[in-house]
This record gives sequence, C-alpha cells and structure tokens, in this order.
Amino acid sequence: MSEFRLLLQADLLLKNGYVFTPHGLLEAGVAINQGKIMKVAKEPNLPKSEKELDCRGQIILPGLIDPHVHFRDPGYVEKEDFYTGSCAAAAGGFTLVADMPNNLPPATSRSAFRLKIREAESKTVVDFCLYAGCGAENVDEMSELAAEGAAAFKTWMYLTPPADAGLCTSDRRNLFKVMAAASRLRLPIAVHAEDAEIIERSTSLLKASGRKDALAHCESRPAEAEAKAVKTCLEVAESSGATLYLLHLTTRGAIEEVRSAKRLRLKVLAETCPHYLFLKEEDMLKLGAYAKVNPPLRRREDQESLWRALVDGVIDCIGSDHAPHQKSEKDAGLEEIWAAPAGAPNIEVSLPLMLTRVNEGVLSLERLVELMATNPAKLFNLYPIRGVVTEGAEGSLTVVDLKAEYKIRVDKLYTKAKACALFDGWFVKGKATYTIVRGVVVMEDGVVLGSRGLGRFIRRREFR
Ligand code: DOR
Ligand code: ZN
Repeated sequence: MSEFRLLLQADLLLKNGYVFTPHGLLEAGVAINQGKIMKVAKEPNLPKSEKELDCRGQIILPGLIDPHVHFRDPGYVEKEDFYTGSCAAAAGGFTLVADMPNNLPPATSRSAFRLKIREAESKTVVDFCLYAGCGAENVDEMSELAAEGAAAFKTWMYLTPPADAGLCTSDRRNLFKVMAAASRLRLPIAVHAEDAEIIERSTSLLKASGRKDALAHCESRPAEAEAKAVKTCLEVAESSGATLYLLHLTTRGAIEEVRSAKRLRLKVLAETCPHYLFLKEEDMLKLGAYAKVNPPLRRREDQESLWRALVDGVIDCIGSDHAPHQKSEKDAGLEEIWAAPAGAPNIEVSLPLMLTRVNEGVLSLERLVELMATNPAKLFNLYPIRGVVTEGAEGSLTVVDLKAEYKIRVDKLYTKAKACALFDGWFVKGKATYTIVRGVVVMEDGVVLGSRGLGRFIRRREFR
C-alpha cells in the first residue's frame, strides 16, 4: 500500500447523509480516523474506508451529551450499573453522559471519586464525565475533587441528603461557601433547587391530614418551593462569582427568574427534562409512584412556559435525569406515595420524544442540537472538541432518522429499571440509528454493539 493511499484511509466513513454543520445541513459524509473527525465532504472528496455506513436519508449530528444521569455505580447496582446505564445511553443516541454523585460511597471525597472512575471505566460503553458532590461537610475537599477531573460540582438544597452526607446546602451561608469554592476552582456548580423548608412544612401538613395518594407528592413540593430556591441560588451565584447550572427546572416562576438573570448577564445555564415536557401532574393519577420525580410533575401553564423557554433560549440543556429504581421500591408507593423513591429512567426515550416535537415544528433541529449537544459540551468545557461536527473534533456522532415512526416498548429498553419506565406505548417520530463513540459504532439500529470498558473517563479540560 502506498503512503499516499494510507493517508487517505479512514477508520470509519459515514456517507450519503446530511451533515449537521455550523453552516447548516450539508449533503455530505464524515470520515473518522484515530478517533477524530478527519474530513467532512461530499464524495468523491472523502477518503476510503473498510468500514462504511450508508446514512442515506439520515442526519449526522454531533454526538449527543446527556448532562444529567444517575447510573448508581458503585453502591446501588441493583438499580442500574455503569454497563447497563451506558448501554441505555448508547441506545438512546448519547455518546457522553455526566453522572451524578449520589451513589455509594458518594463521590464527595478523592478516594470515593477515584473508586467511581475505576468502576465506571471498567464497564462503560460510552464516554463519561463525573460530577463531584459538595456540601457544607466537604468544602475543604473540593479542590482535590477538581484536581481528580470532576466536570462540575453538584449540591442539593435539602435538609436531609438523598444518599449519604456531604451533598446538602440547605442554607444561604453554606451555599455561598460551596459556590465560592466552585468559582475559585473555575468549575460550574449544579444545584437541585427546591426550598427545603417549604417542602418539609407542606409534607408534614399533608401527612398529618392523612394524604398518601400520588397527587399529594406534587402538593408537597409546590411551585413556589422551586421559584424561591432558584432565586436564592441566582443571588448567591452572583455574589460568589460561580457559574450556576440549574438542574431540572419545572416551573414558570423559575424560568422567569432565569430569564431576568440572563438579561443581567449572570453566568447561569438552565436545564429541563423530558418528563416535565411531556407529562403533567394529572398523569400521576394513572402512573402513580412510577411518575414520582423530584421536582414533581407540574400543571399545563408551567409546561407551556418550559416549551417557550426551550424555543427562546432561556433553557440551555435537556438532561434526562435518568434516575432508575427497582420495581419493588416503586410499588411500595402505589398504596402510599411517600414510601416510593423519586426518579424515572428516561435516557432511552429522551431523543425520540424531542425529535417528535422537531417533526411537529415545535422545536427546530438547530435548537435540539444546541440543547442536547452543543450547550452540554460548553457547560463541561468540552466545546469545540465535542458538540460540533467539524474537522479535528472528536469522532463522536449521533445519526438520526427523522422519519422513523415507532411505538415505544419499554420491555425493549436496556436500563435495569425498564419495569418502571414511563412512556410505554407512546408513538414517536424520529430516532437514533447509529451512536458512534470516537470512531467506534456502539449502537446500530437500536442494538448496542459497544463492549464494556470501551468508553473513557473525560476529565474536565483546564480553562485557558
Ligand atoms: O427524581 C429524582 N431522582 N430527583 C432527584 O433529585 C434525585 C433522583 C435520584 O437520584 O433518584
Ligand atoms: Zn438528578
């Protein structure tokens, strides 16, 4: 083989598709070599490859990034583990996920963080970043966690932590401490923003009155609890200089707070999740504890405001908040809602649900790519290595067929929590046909091909 020919060889060639580029959709192909995008061009200007994928009629997007998952590993592997969770990610079209720290031991110390990297690296099929948990108890350990490569910090504005200690900041003083530390370390801080006191008060009142039905969960965490906590977070973020990532927003009040903060040029990014966009409070009547999520499902006005914010740019990212639990745990809440854990496994349905709205003309494909690839890449300081299809970027891509119509069958999902999955029987239009991680096809037509350990831990890049 001549040297000239060698130079022209690619490891993988995607051809005959429409490539989503910063300059619009290009009828072209993508060549990947040694894990990187080598060429974006029309034939015959593409190199040859022994492995070619025919993407006729399909769109080649930057590799999608899910900025919010709970793969439960180590510690709660009966719910999910990094292999099954990452298979679900690959099946759902995601090439990279960012995993939350509330596993066991929680990722709040250097040793727990290292243990988690080792476990996850040995199992994962897609690339991953990690959040480090922070709270009043571990402020002094935050710099070590940053040095270990944490992509961001995460804290809960709770009184009692959801897993172990070290994740909570229920008062303003502690919130300031962790935000100031995150700011010094130049990492964003993600917050679960719901006001702990309002929740405790409403919950006790509801319990005292004998309520244990599914809707009581929604009432126990009223919209004001979110709006108030978001306002506090924004104020503290401003005074501490932190870059704030507001997780899973659900209410109009919170959206309006973010809108005003963005007008004042605060460093804030906002997220919402598929369940808040596609389900409402009344769905609790039918789905019961399976639809118990924190924050809870909301009413129509709130949902409409989320859709407006997706379109107009107030919301920056879609996270699935993939939060698997066991069926037995969820079933405990069918009689008494308080007994069930909150969370639903959504990573495999997030993209098809969103593509359905693109097909309906509610959301543009450009916005979807910003929400599910470009902005998450920016949040974790991975852009433009990721989040855009361009020569020299990582060869991680998601190919979608916008015209594919199908019915969601939860028994076909990869997550261990498929028995608790929502959206069974929903008709969707649009799905991922290939998930490609640094030049390796990890999913083809819904079948996960990637092997355990193929994915990598992606350390946060230093800010320049
Ligand atoms: O619904 C939720 N589930 N909300 C959270 O904040 C935590 C998550 C989980 O870990 O199960
Ligand atoms: Zn979460």
